[in-house]
Amino acid sequence: MSAASAAAVARAYGRIEHFLDERARGWEQSRALADAARRLSERYTEERAPVAGDDVAELAYLAYFGPRAVCATAAALDAAQLTARGVVVDAGCGSGAAALLLVEAGAARVIGVDRSERALAMARALVGDALRAVCAPVESAPACREATLVASSFAFGELAGSAELALAALERLGGEHSALAIVDAGDRAHARRLQQAREAVRLAPTDRRHLLAPCPHDDACPALARERDWCHARVAKALSPRLAAFARAVGRDEVHMASSYLVLAPPGATTREDGGGILVIGEAHKEKGRARLSVCGPGGLRFLQALKRERAAFDALLAVPRGARLAPSLATGATHGVAHVDASQVAALMAAE
Ligand SMILES: C[S@@+](CC[C@H](N)C(=O)[O-])C[C@H]1O[C@@H](n2cnc3c(N)ncnc32)[C@H](O)[C@@H]1O
Repeated sequence: MSAASAAAVARAYGRIEHFLDERARGWEQSRALADAARRLSERYTEERAPVAGDDVAELAYLAYFGPRAVCATAAALDAAQLTARGVVVDAGCGSGAAALLLVEAGAARVIGVDRSERALAMARALVGDALRAVCAPVESAPACREATLVASSFAFGELAGSAELALAALERLGGEHSALAIVDAGDRAHARRLQQAREAVRLAPTDRRHLLAPCPHDDACPALARERDWCHARVAKALSPRLAAFARAVGRDEVHMASSYLVLAPPGATTREDGGGILVIGEAHKEKGRARLSVCGPGGLRFLQALKRERAAFDALLAVPRGARLAPSLATGATHGVAHVDASQVAALMAAE
């Protein structure tokens, strides 16, 4: 993550902590809050039910899910090399954690749209004057033509209808010059819904939006070929010590999270200068005598492979993290989808983020 994004994330975390300190002193050690957050997490990830509730649930939500919205939104914008500026719409803004990040990252004003008045009241208190709250369904809220960006975190799975309809509802909220950044959970159902939205963009007429991230290509998504597959990112949460203590008390990973995202540029905008390279979409794994890494790029899924006897290439391949972008040349010359990486290409692997 860029230094500017990391700093915006840290400031947003600090403001969440301050907000919690004022309303629930000792929150990071509160068993009641941790239990409430665990219940919400189970309900959200296992039943995929919308989260809503009383004051304890709202604060628990902010303490555990708030940082997730912050770091996942920052990571998605970073991957697309997009900066929040001017007016930004946050669709399904809930208690406002992502809106807070957008403000800390540079937005002058955030229009927070949500159908829950209760959540919006918290968002107003959390974000302050930079937030204009609009209580309405995303599907029928007034559009903001001056928005540079329509962002949505952990709400896409709750929007009505198919992935294509949900995408259209978000597009409608902005103007013709608005980019779109959608972040959601990294499980199969949420991620596939975003990949279906991507497919709708891909198959739409060429004057529609184009893809900025995560995919460095416009071909069909290989994750949609089989019902059992999905593509997700692994985001470093970089939590402050107190937010990390709370995540531990909830019994969840305090270091990383899985998320899925889709970032689209407005029609006519220029594409990424670096072309996006090839994207590492899984962790490298060892097989008999070799290591393999799955990457996605023009033409779809490929595997990079290094033999164990070529130790430098083998070790370098195993060290490449999910989400890294590599030089497309590494995957050229693949036979049956597998490209051999040798010692001469180690430097290209080591340069991965
Ligand atoms: C899981 S919460 C995420 C909140 C916030 N974006 C975050 O990441 O912390 C989903 C939010 O989307 C809102 N929501 C879901 N469907 C909506 C719709 N059709 N119109 C407006 N708000 C909606 C819910 O009220 C809820 O506040």
